[in-house]
Amino acid sequence: MHFFGHQRPASLAIAATLAACASAQTYTSCNPLTSTSCPANTALGMAINVDFTKGSVNSFTASGGGTVSYGSDGATFTVSESGDAPQLSSVFYIMFGRVELTMKAAPGAGIVSTLVMQSDDLDEIDMEWLGADDSEVQTNYFGKGQTITYNRGQFNPAADNQAGFITYTIDWTAARIEWSVGGTVVRTLAYEDADTDQYPQTPMQVKFGAWAGGDTSTNAEGTVEWARGPTVFSDGPFSMVVQSIVVSDYSTGSSYVYTNTSGDWQSIEAVDGEVGVNSGTGATATATATASTATSSNLAVPAGIGSSASTTTASSTIPSGWVMTASGKIVPASSNATRPPQFWILATQVFGCFFVGLLLLQ
Ligand SMILES: *[C@@H]1O[C@H](CO)[C@@H](O)[C@H](O)[C@H]1NC(C)=O
Repeated sequence: MHFFGHQRPASLAIAATLAACASAQTYTSCNPLTSTSCPANTALGMAINVDFTKGSVNSFTASGGGTVSYGSDGATFTVSESGDAPQLSSVFYIMFGRVELTMKAAPGAGIVSTLVMQSDDLDEIDMEWLGADDSEVQTNYFGKGQTITYNRGQFNPAADNQAGFITYTIDWTAARIEWSVGGTVVRTLAYEDADTDQYPQTPMQVKFGAWAGGDTSTNAEGTVEWARGPTVFSDGPFSMVVQSIVVSDYSTGSSYVYTNTSGDWQSIEAVDGEVGVNSGTGATATATATASTATSSNLAVPAGIGSSASTTTASSTIPSGWVMTASGKIVPASSNATRPPQFWILATQVFGCFFVGLLLLQ
């Protein structure tokens, strides 16, 4: 069971697999704020540049219904009917870093295109494009899954975001988060300006996709309103297109471990590496936009991609003996091996579920 870490005893790895499998319907399969035995997060520990016009890569897994298809434009996320919420989620985590997503937002009332960075203890940094308005992007952050205050969301300018490809960037260090649109910083959140104990600071997966926030059959009224729905599926299908993603991890190492339940970045250990050692090394933005206005209080939805897409857990990782390439492909370190890593991921998941089945039968 090399999937949860190199030195982990087999019994622990099996237990971790069970936990991941049994709770696959929740956003976080093990919350490090309440448990000290959560599986380590597989670290990216480097920078990758994924060109989706060349097809899919195995460092991102698809989920959520609907389709992700690949063509000369890149990866297309299509919402055609109720329940569709196609998304790609990274199998790796970054601990501070920079994400640059080049994309076209999906059109349509109540359709939401989303880029979410999210940690196992539910820190979150978002960008969301509402299909009802192609002139702006909503930027947002959450800490430790708390939604008690709703002053974090802002709408920032992003003109014609359904017509052409624009590169959106989230640059995240211990000191500040910068959101950029086409090379222009549209928002900066300093650590000290975040709500108390709410600054995102734990290892995050990167997820993006499209969903129907305006689907009245699956969403609460507040969500439909926020998404400027209702969604009229007969007007669809609605597609978001992602050309490429560049992800730079500002930390190094093979995995990230929560050493206590504080959720503080100082408590995160980079195994075989160092936290934040490459902070700020991503390309710098070229300009800064004028200050943006904060949204009114109720216009924010945490865990951005719709509930039907919430099935992705941290259970997929980079198997030991396999390595990440600069183009985001996970390949065997030994060039002789031919089995794709998905085989191991699938095998472990199937084994885990089978094991749960056996336990339930007893
Ligand atoms: C968590 O770990 C950090 C780093 O070792 C330490 O500074 C902090 O006091 C610890 N917090 C708790 C609540 O144990």
